[in-house]
Amino acid sequence: MTQETYLTGITTTGTPHIGNYVGAIRPAVASSKDQSRNNFYFLADYHSLAKTEEPDRIHRSGLEVAATWLACGLDTDNAYFYRQSDIPEIPELTWILNGVTAKGLMNRAHSYKAQVQANDDRGSSDPDKGIVMALYNYPILMAADILMFKANKVPVGRDQKQHMEMTRDIAQRFNHRYGDILVIPDAEINENTATLSGLDGRKMSKSYDNTIPLFVDEKKLRKLVMKIKTNSLEPGEPKETEGSTLYEIFRAFANDDEVKDVERRYAEGIAWGEMKQLLFEYLKEHIKPMREEYNRLLDDPAIVEEELLKGAERAREISVPYIAEIRHAIGIRQLG
Ligand code: TRP
Repeated sequence: MTQETYLTGITTTGTPHIGNYVGAIRPAVASSKDQSRNNFYFLADYHSLAKTEEPDRIHRSGLEVAATWLACGLDTDNAYFYRQSDIPEIPELTWILNGVTAKGLMNRAHSYKAQVQANDDRGSSDPDKGIVMALYNYPILMAADILMFKANKVPVGRDQKQHMEMTRDIAQRFNHRYGDILVIPDAEINENTATLSGLDGRKMSKSYDNTIPLFVDEKKLRKLVMKIKTNSLEPGEPKETEGSTLYEIFRAFANDDEVKDVERRYAEGIAWGEMKQLLFEYLKEHIKPMREEYNRLLDDPAIVEEELLKGAERAREISVPYIAEIRHAIGIRQLG
């Protein structure tokens, strides 16, 4: 059997939180070590132009996200780890794909339609007010990310399902016109990816402002854990683990014996204050070695830069000859 090629893009906006760690980073780090798979992880920094126009934020977030993945133990010798903007063949392929992408397909993109709807809700006479082409073309750039490395498996969240369908559609049109050149990828939508609840009990998410950033300092970590919502049961009263955010977060980090022990203590009526202290101590110790590495990398960004350049160099061994083949196929060739 041929080796599967997995590819995942990481957006460089915001600071990673423990929900991102449990749901995305930790499983990706584990599979980066899997020699039987071909793994690509990259910072989708050009994609951030669709979302922000603040250069400092884009720059800072790129460093934070890359340092986080490295500090969490990504195996960059086995997996490819690079920055989208270091692979000029990706924007080149994006333009080529523009030639086979129906405008109508992009009109149907959820993220674009949501902005049009927002304009309509505000009573704007221009449905496209404030919408940049980077947002409109976002799915084409994403398709290029994937097709550039012949990925056949793309692990994504539910929200990316439509983008994956668009990628397949674009690749199929290309192949129909120019021959069997692009690999048609499959989305791998993992329904049982762990999601964590946040401070207020809703899903942990930047947009709810209820997150615990993965590498906050210990004082802030303590403060945040103490803010986690509980019910009003008194110390000594037996408590359900089901629906308890404290338990849920603990379980996402601890081993089976430790979880069993905490379950017993819930049944015995552990006080919420004590459980909070226990969770805080546990997280603190568990995250500490990674946080130390993270801080070391932030203090010396040249190490991160070097890793990314190494990744780009390896990735371009694939993208440079492949884009030559693609250009040839579409008729962009030497004249003599
Ligand atoms: N659009 C993805 C997100 O918002 C990020 C992304 C960019 C991506 N390019 C990709 C994901 C390629 C998978 C494959 O999360």
